[in-house]
Amino acid sequence: MAIQISAPPTKYIIISSYSSKQLHHERISFHEPVKKFIISSTAERIKLKTKNKTVPLMDDHNKRKNNSLLSTMFKSIDDFICDFMDLPLRPHNDPKNILSGNLAPVDELPPTACEVVEGSLPSCLDGAYLLNGPNPQFKPRGPYHHFEGDGMIHMIKINGGKATFCSRYVKTYKYMLERDMGYPIIPSPFTSFNGVMASIARVALGVARVVAGEFDPVTNGYGTANTSVAVIGGKLYALGEGDLPYEIKVTSDGDITTLGRRDFHSAATEEFLSMTAHPKIDPETGEAFAFSYHISPPRLRFFRIDSHGKKQPDVPIFSMETTSLIHDFFVTKNYAIFNDVQICMNPSEILMGKPPVTIDLTKTSRFGVIKKYAKDESEMWWVDVPGFNISHAVNAWEEDDGDTLVVVAANLLLVEQSLEKFDLAEMKMEEIRISVKNKEVLLRRQLSTRVLNLPPIHPDLCRKKKKVCIRHSVASRMYGPGCTGNEPFFVPREPNDPDADEDDGFVVVYVHDENTQESKFLVMDAKSPILEIVAAVKLPGRVPTAFHGLFVSESRLSKLS
Ligand SMILES: [Fe+2]
Repeated sequence: MAIQISAPPTKYIIISSYSSKQLHHERISFHEPVKKFIISSTAERIKLKTKNKTVPLMDDHNKRKNNSLLSTMFKSIDDFICDFMDLPLRPHNDPKNILSGNLAPVDELPPTACEVVEGSLPSCLDGAYLLNGPNPQFKPRGPYHHFEGDGMIHMIKINGGKATFCSRYVKTYKYMLERDMGYPIIPSPFTSFNGVMASIARVALGVARVVAGEFDPVTNGYGTANTSVAVIGGKLYALGEGDLPYEIKVTSDGDITTLGRRDFHSAATEEFLSMTAHPKIDPETGEAFAFSYHISPPRLRFFRIDSHGKKQPDVPIFSMETTSLIHDFFVTKNYAIFNDVQICMNPSEILMGKPPVTIDLTKTSRFGVIKKYAKDESEMWWVDVPGFNISHAVNAWEEDDGDTLVVVAANLLLVEQSLEKFDLAEMKMEEIRISVKNKEVLLRRQLSTRVLNLPPIHPDLCRKKKKVCIRHSVASRMYGPGCTGNEPFFVPREPNDPDADEDDGFVVVYVHDENTQESKFLVMDAKSPILEIVAAVKLPGRVPTAFHGLFVSESRLSKLS
């Protein structure tokens, strides 16, 4: 079993636990002022009838278009590596296992009208809910990891109680290039290095392809943009931490288009090739705080993107001694906090025939604390938190007039299993209190005995917690046998009312029923102890298990440039 935490309203963290059979939600209460949303009543009615379905993954022979002699030769070498040099597939990297059930990919689906099969859609849900996740366009020929699939966004757009749904790939450079080639050519750091000979051969083949001009990862990146969706500087982006964000647009007919890879006007003299998929957006200033990690010093770079979408200079962090796979981080009113984890990137492993992503159990996990507006790392300090490895931050805030930092996140209990058995990895919520004055951990405690996973927080709550009052199992819902739920998200009923109850709103989520092969969009009453269903929308296509989502109100959508 794995458990999700997601998308809380002002006081709440919504936790959903899921297994292959059932899922339920649970709320944890936080004390926090209400944030603001703007609601529009703009309505659109779209009645496209196209259906999508689960399709067999494209065989490379069916889509191959590039028949140049050089490409044919490269393809033959790649085939040889897959057929004769790769080590035998194991359960954790066998695409037959990984891409089964609701992890199997779906085809694109144009905007299609949906049927509300239960209740009615509240007016405050006018807008779009976008969920991003991996959905490989080709059947993997060799080993595969769930993290490496091409990004696809599943969006339900709601206006005036009517809904349309679409699924669209993020048209990344990788996606477009491989679509034109007819087969995947860009290696994955998770699975491309499968045995000594196969690793060396793939490195050589990759270099040859770059030299021959078959692809240009330096100029164009190679990421999948498959992880999250965020509004940065007034624009909408699909993000994945291996590359720069891709700007996307929600069209008036309920479709999604990809506008392109964006560098946020970074300085030409600055190397800016990737950023986290979990930037922290300050709802008051509109700034986005973010970072990137690298295999050579400075291994960590902290930066912000201003409210106009312009990237500010990096703060290079040279005191990051190893390359940690830092997927997420914390911000408070005055600080950014990084978890230097035991999950590391070590490219030398490739020469040993192993993936460069490794687990270093000899390393002591720690927090790095730096002022949010620091110009350099001179005032950055580190504090050890042994065995603390997060994949996602829940939240952090300051108490005692800024003398105490409070961090809440789910800790990977068996970090050594986190790469091969990510769906089974046990995570449990912890609270860690840190003294700024003494630069030491004051308190560390487990907040729940439940296994917790994927705990993103509503972006508007970032840094705003002042104190926490956690009540376990405030509310929960079991979706039923055979049902799996994606990341839930909270949408306030009255986003402009500062006096509204913190839980006055709705929890929305995509749920798939393996028994009926139907996916639904559920709207649940966040105040209800059983998360009572307010509306259920039958979706015209399946929503596979994905990563992170975002609800954007119609009013906000209309203001995106
Ligand atoms: Fe994430």
